[in-house]
Amino acid sequence: MDIELERPLRILIMAAEIVPFAKVGGLADVVGALPKALQDLGHDVRLVMPRYGQVSPERFQLTSVLDAVTVKMSQYQEQVRIMQGSIGNDIPVYMVDAPRYFDRENIYGYIDDGERFILFCRAALETMRLLDWSPDIIHCNDWQTGIVPNWMHTVYHEDPFFSDAATVYTIHNLAYQGIFGYRILEVAGVASGGFLYPQIVELANVVDIMARGIHFSDAITTVSERYAQEILTPTFGEKLDPLLRSRRERLFGILNGIDYLEMNPATDHYIRSQFNSASLEKRAGNKQALQERAHLPVRSDVPLLAMISRLADQKGFDLISQISQPLLAQGVQLVVLGIGDQHYHEMFQNLAVRYPQQVAIFLTFNSELAQSIYAGSDMFLMPSRFEPCGLGQLIAMRYGSVPIVRKVGGLADTVQEYDPRSGLGNGFTFDNYDPWDLFAAIVRALELFRFKDVWRTLQQRGMEADHSWHASAMRYVDVYRDAIAFHKSGK
Ligand code: GLC
Repeated sequence: MDIELERPLRILIMAAEIVPFAKVGGLADVVGALPKALQDLGHDVRLVMPRYGQVSPERFQLTSVLDAVTVKMSQYQEQVRIMQGSIGNDIPVYMVDAPRYFDRENIYGYIDDGERFILFCRAALETMRLLDWSPDIIHCNDWQTGIVPNWMHTVYHEDPFFSDAATVYTIHNLAYQGIFGYRILEVAGVASGGFLYPQIVELANVVDIMARGIHFSDAITTVSERYAQEILTPTFGEKLDPLLRSRRERLFGILNGIDYLEMNPATDHYIRSQFNSASLEKRAGNKQALQERAHLPVRSDVPLLAMISRLADQKGFDLISQISQPLLAQGVQLVVLGIGDQHYHEMFQNLAVRYPQQVAIFLTFNSELAQSIYAGSDMFLMPSRFEPCGLGQLIAMRYGSVPIVRKVGGLADTVQEYDPRSGLGNGFTFDNYDPWDLFAAIVRALELFRFKDVWRTLQQRGMEADHSWHASAMRYVDVYRDAIAFHKSGK
């Protein structure tokens, strides 16, 4: 390989959410952790996100780096300020400070979400110019940044500052595509290119920002190998499977890791009793702490099942609702943590009222409580309809909670059914999106739970598996280099 390609890369990562500043889902965890592993490999990584109202400059010790960046938005211009925080070992996190767009109660869900994230992307690129830091790679994540690869072929095409920048586009979840009316193309300055794909019915009359990211980026990744295969099919492709198939030689599946420093039961101060795979008996203190906190009877023999998740259809809560009675008739305890759709809030609240000895629900998100649940539960449920990667099962395994998952996406890549004959496996899985298949998997787990030695082996296997970011970060670097090569070849 030529020397030029071996040098450290300047990598700009753009995302709408980054831990610890703002988080709705797993995207934030990934973008908050991958950069540290890339930096460890010797690369110069910088991040950009919006500065939401909730990101307090005092709490995160933000500094102001640029007072006024002019951002072109169709006919008008906006002035934004750029602030800076950091993660890890001084990795800069630039934040686009535009109160009119981002000082709101929530991160998403506004009528002008399209404009908000176009402004963010444009401001991010202009900031790099003003800082005179030209990236080799612009790594975009999810629909909020999908316009950037499109711009590299349009508004920035002739721009020498960005001419060597290759784009990589990561799909964390194909279900959120950023679909807007035609006007958004004017705001983004790409209206003259017209609509994409008039030949594809689903795309002929909509502006789909994620589809643009997929179509125009130099390389595409998604967060597990299985999901990379699945999205080429109509079942999981969310209507973009024809487009994805047309670019399949540029689509790579790279499994997410988790932050091994933050998520470590041997050092975690959020949990009552620290432990490792050789001192699993200490976990009992965490189960007790969790039962106390959840106001459930403190009993070590009762299997404690947990779910930590966005309360969204994707996550399979309708399956849980269909088996709730037979499940609770097994005498288990169930603890749920998350926020999301109102009808799931009500569903779990009703269950908690009817079964106060067995069900506890925390309608919030809080990483301290999350870590106590990972450390104190016996089993962790993820019966997802689809799951690009899934981080919950990885954290659960690291904390000795045995996963019960549907065999899709990243869940299929990381959890193997326990096989009593061979003794192999690290959890329980089911294939069909069917409540009774889920129920059967739970029953198999409950059966095995009675055999403490075998159970401990499953826990240890989960704890000893390596889901740190190191290996995945190396694969990202390979894809970055491929993207640069694709970019240079002009393909
Ligand atoms: C999305 C996906 C989840 C994935 C996460 C991070 O939240 O639903 O499966 O783990 O992004 O990539």
